[in-house]
Amino acid sequence: CNSRTTEKKFLKYLSRHGDIKKHFFYESYGIYAVVEFANRESITSLLERQTHQTNSLANSANHKLPLQSMNSYRDCPKRRIDQQIISLTEAYQLTEENSRLRFLVCSLLKDIAAAYFPECTIRPFGSSVNGFGKLGCDLDMFLDLDGISGRNLKMPKSGLSLEYQMKRANSERAVTQSILSVIGECVEQFGAGCVGVQKILNARCPLVRFAHQPSGFQCDLTANNRVAMKSTELLYLYGELDQRVRCLVFTVRCWARAHGITSSIPGAWITNFSLTVMVLFFLQKRSPPIIPTLDQLRDLAGPADKSVIEGNDCTFVSDFSKIPLHSNTETLEELLHGFFEFYSTFAFSRMSINIRKGKEQNKPEVAPLHIQNPFETSLNVSKNVNATQLDRFVALCQESAWLFQQIETNTPRGLGGNDTSTPWGLASILLPLNVAGVKSRKKKRHEPASERIKSLLESLKNKNHQKKS
Ligand code: CTP
Ligand code: MG
Repeated sequence: CNSRTTEKKFLKYLSRHGDIKKHFFYESYGIYAVVEFANRESITSLLERQTHQTNSLANSANHKLPLQSMNSYRDCPKRRIDQQIISLTEAYQLTEENSRLRFLVCSLLKDIAAAYFPECTIRPFGSSVNGFGKLGCDLDMFLDLDGISGRNLKMPKSGLSLEYQMKRANSERAVTQSILSVIGECVEQFGAGCVGVQKILNARCPLVRFAHQPSGFQCDLTANNRVAMKSTELLYLYGELDQRVRCLVFTVRCWARAHGITSSIPGAWITNFSLTVMVLFFLQKRSPPIIPTLDQLRDLAGPADKSVIEGNDCTFVSDFSKIPLHSNTETLEELLHGFFEFYSTFAFSRMSINIRKGKEQNKPEVAPLHIQNPFETSLNVSKNVNATQLDRFVALCQESAWLFQQIETNTPRGLGGNDTSTPWGLASILLPLNVAGVKSRKKKRHEPASERIKSLLESLKNKNHQKKS
């Protein structure tokens, strides 16, 4: 949007072309708006009047978090940490606007890919749609060519047939690489607002990575990645089964980010996906279990749910109402404490984490951390993790479990006590400084802090001060 135009004027101008159904404004290298008209014809009418310079897309990367004060739960002794966990989840989860923007970026990219593959679709997967996405998470996209006419035609057994000729290529992988190569080229040359395009074609899962400036999203485009679509659906299902699942995953993700266990830079760190699987495994191990195992979900599947992708059985039930749940009544506080204790003593050196069976299995190969990929069972989700990173994770679980004990035994030392200006409860576990303080009793180590979480905690503290005064 032109910086001299007010929102009101802008909307008035657009409404000359038809009724506006929804809109929102935001800032990312300038002011942007996403506008949805009630009728498609309005867009044609608008476009006829436009010149080419516009790029009016939206971004909520700088979204102001609707935070509630974490410390204000101090007054109700029961479930105070539960409330903090819920606030954190509510503040960080993707907003409806942010989700819509993600689908919009997929559709813009589809317009570029359609130059080569007119009937393709581009779908989001990963944390943008699995229910565990945090504001600012990357946008994983999948180029789906299966809908292209003729591509999946079955050959008739006899009689006349219309044959659809495909050029032969060396392997499925080589095809994926060349498709991504040409699309990467198009995105680089013609993708409005797409910068820093990198073609990472030799990775296990080839991809094109770029930043989409108008939306502020870091994007990863893959092709031929159907198994990841299935694991996205599975994670979504788990998150929907019990409200505690999403809250716990969110909190563990935030905790890990605050202590530099995870990072936005690829490396030997534990990834969010691995952490999520670890939380799910822990919830399967509760007594009674909070969520079923993947084998149980497979056994509940109906004929329409059957799915085999590249020889991997990806079948699981899609009808949520068929899934029986146990009556576990543990609070979020108990579960978070339990998570830290569980992984403080887990036999990582011998055992593999397996959500298919819901039981640890002997490690099939040497790796510091072994988490079986739920669908491609011969793969280790956390193959990248080295021994140092795993040790840091275990040490932080131990320290956080210790801090929890202090909260529960009512020894407020280092936990804020009754002084409302110091972080308390969940905040004390997320704050790098506090954990570092505890650590100095043992050995001193430098922990990189997440600026985002630090500032979140600062704003929580400040809000509390304002309230008090
Ligand atoms: N995935 C997988 N195996 C891996 C890594 C990723 O199957 N070793 C799939 C998962 O479905 C995952 C998706 O690819 O959700 C996207 O991966 P990634 O972006 O690393 O994880 P997200 O879940 O999207 O989490 P983040 O918010 O950190 O992006
Ligand atoms: Mg992702």
